[in-house]
Amino acid sequence: MRYIVASKSNLTPEQAAAELKTLAKEIADHDYRYYRLNQPTISDQAYDALHRRNREIEVLFPNLIRPDSPSHRVGSAPSPEFEKVKHQAPMLSLDNAFSLDEVGDFIDRIKRFLKWPADQDIPFMAEPKIDGLSASLIYEDGQFVLGATRGDGVEGENITPNLRTIRDIPLILQGDFKPARLEVRGEVYMTKSDFERLNENRQQEDESPFANPRNAAAGSLRQLDSSITAKRPLYFFAYAYFTSEPNGDKTQEEILNTLKTWGFPVNPHVQLCLNQAELKAHYERLEELRPTLNYEIDGVVYKVNDLALQNRLGVVGRAPRHSIAHKFAAEQAETVVEDILIQVGRTGVLTPLAVLKPVFVGGVMVRRATLHNQDEIQRKDVRVGDAVIVQRAGDVIPQVVKSLTNKRPATSQSFIFPTHCPVCQTPVVQTEGQVAIRCPNSFGCAAQAVERLKHFVSRHAFDIEGLGEKHLEAFCQEGLIKNPADIFTLRQHGRVLEKREGWGAQSLQNLWDAIDKCRVISLDRFIYGLGISQIGQVSAKLLAKHYQTIDALLQAGEEDLLSIEGIGPGMSKDLVAFLSDPQQQKLIHDLRKHVTVEPYLVQEAHNSPLKGKTVVFTGALSSLSRGEAKAQAERLGAKVSGSVSAKTDMVVAGADAGSKLKTAQALGVQVLTEDEWLALVGGL
Ligand code: IVH
Repeated sequence: MRYIVASKSNLTPEQAAAELKTLAKEIADHDYRYYRLNQPTISDQAYDALHRRNREIEVLFPNLIRPDSPSHRVGSAPSPEFEKVKHQAPMLSLDNAFSLDEVGDFIDRIKRFLKWPADQDIPFMAEPKIDGLSASLIYEDGQFVLGATRGDGVEGENITPNLRTIRDIPLILQGDFKPARLEVRGEVYMTKSDFERLNENRQQEDESPFANPRNAAAGSLRQLDSSITAKRPLYFFAYAYFTSEPNGDKTQEEILNTLKTWGFPVNPHVQLCLNQAELKAHYERLEELRPTLNYEIDGVVYKVNDLALQNRLGVVGRAPRHSIAHKFAAEQAETVVEDILIQVGRTGVLTPLAVLKPVFVGGVMVRRATLHNQDEIQRKDVRVGDAVIVQRAGDVIPQVVKSLTNKRPATSQSFIFPTHCPVCQTPVVQTEGQVAIRCPNSFGCAAQAVERLKHFVSRHAFDIEGLGEKHLEAFCQEGLIKNPADIFTLRQHGRVLEKREGWGAQSLQNLWDAIDKCRVISLDRFIYGLGISQIGQVSAKLLAKHYQTIDALLQAGEEDLLSIEGIGPGMSKDLVAFLSDPQQQKLIHDLRKHVTVEPYLVQEAHNSPLKGKTVVFTGALSSLSRGEAKAQAERLGAKVSGSVSAKTDMVVAGADAGSKLKTAQALGVQVLTEDEWLALVGGL
């Protein structure tokens, strides 16, 4: 048949609309056969011809382009940068378990929290943990309208055009039930065979290969030019959804089934497990299956199947209490230790590092591995020149597992841990009961100063782009910056900086803009940026949420800190030590001359009558654990305290309540029974 190019003279709008509809369906069917079943039924040329015809008609009738148009799958014009998108609900991470014992502890924790009978099982859904990147997909009235990366869990990047190119992701939901708004979450991944093919091509083109399928998927998805993404083979597995119109799903198992009815791929190796023995059996099955799968999995995720229980269990820090990732054993390889270096971190801790003869472990080239601390290096007796086993699990830094002593040269000698800081020569110290050996010269040690500054400007802290490691090192050496507060007066050295190599007027202006942008900063970022020992992003958020203002935090006492769920005794000690150190106090004072710290706004519970109230639980509660009661109160904006005082707003007294109840009565504080408490929170 002679091919007739579509034109307005031979195609009416009605015919065009009808043909676009048929083409969308036909191409989607071929995509399914090709990408999912691996059984194409037409040649590549015939397939390309269908796409061409579709494009041709769309160019003639742009107003008829369908939301499920196959041309969305081939990418669109590059954008200058990704727009930020705030997630409706945070995209959480998962806690890990590395052994069956840890899985047992996880189940016991859940039972205790729920006051569940110890001898009664809780069913779990067990799903392979896909080693890719999580994505959030928003559908409105059944149409895919917005897709985002996880980002920091609160805010991601808008990568809608890139996600549209993934043929596994339906552009229009199948089935009859189409909620007004739906969010689907899942994992984008690249298959092992596609990854190898892509790397071969890259090497032929003299481009650097990707380290592993996950990095390849990430690099492909975060392309500003989505037509590049379109050329990369990416796939998707869905594992969760949230909707504006609940449809009656009560379990994770039902969630997965509903996702399938909408046309999402769900991993076929999921399994409902009724008890721990079944979880173990499924884990072992997947471990065996792992090498035969064409995509990487790095463990099994166990999720409480009952959604009502999931809801009660809630979230601790950044992870839900109801799920855990049971990781597979780390991959190992043999290599040689060429040298042992000592790194000085931002809190002065000396960490020994093994410099290795480069070796591939789990698809990544490893050149360095941590030896943790003096105790570890002594216990393992790792020496320079030793043949060693190194291992790498997921994103964790590679570790030296053991030395192969039978291969050890006769002349080798045990490593002697330095008695002085290798950078500033100050004698090192070790606090009793702690393994870490530190350089105590916090403010005089160049290594610590640079590490602190690196941390201060990092993405999750003050996020100052343009102050890289090299610059910070040079500025410190020349005395332009001594501590984080000096960053805010760096501009007075503008003249000096202008003369430096590599600093044009524009890059300096960008730097001043980046610095100015963070003169107003959220409390959690401020706390995190201080680089307090043991206080990471999660604990900084917990502190911000609890204290709400910087002034309140500066008054924090150990007992109060310990009442915050997620802040342990070690953290409390380090925090109190930090806050009472005159030099740190001066730093905070100096920083506040340049920076306004915004109070932390508790977003949830805006209408809750418990907001800002202090509640004390005492006595034995019968239907819920102390942990769950506390979590309920905090969800509703209340603060939970361990002791009753005139500042207490409410005491919830269980059976056999003792002195706290008496104090409350004496002070005239409102007292609730357990049932009254449940009635109150149940109604909120
Ligand atoms: S559920 C609370 N299920 O693992 C987070 N996650 O370490 C809910 N992942 O960011 C995640 N396979 O990217 C869930 N079957 C699965 C998963 C899975 C892979 C990833 C996901 C998440 C990360 C958490």
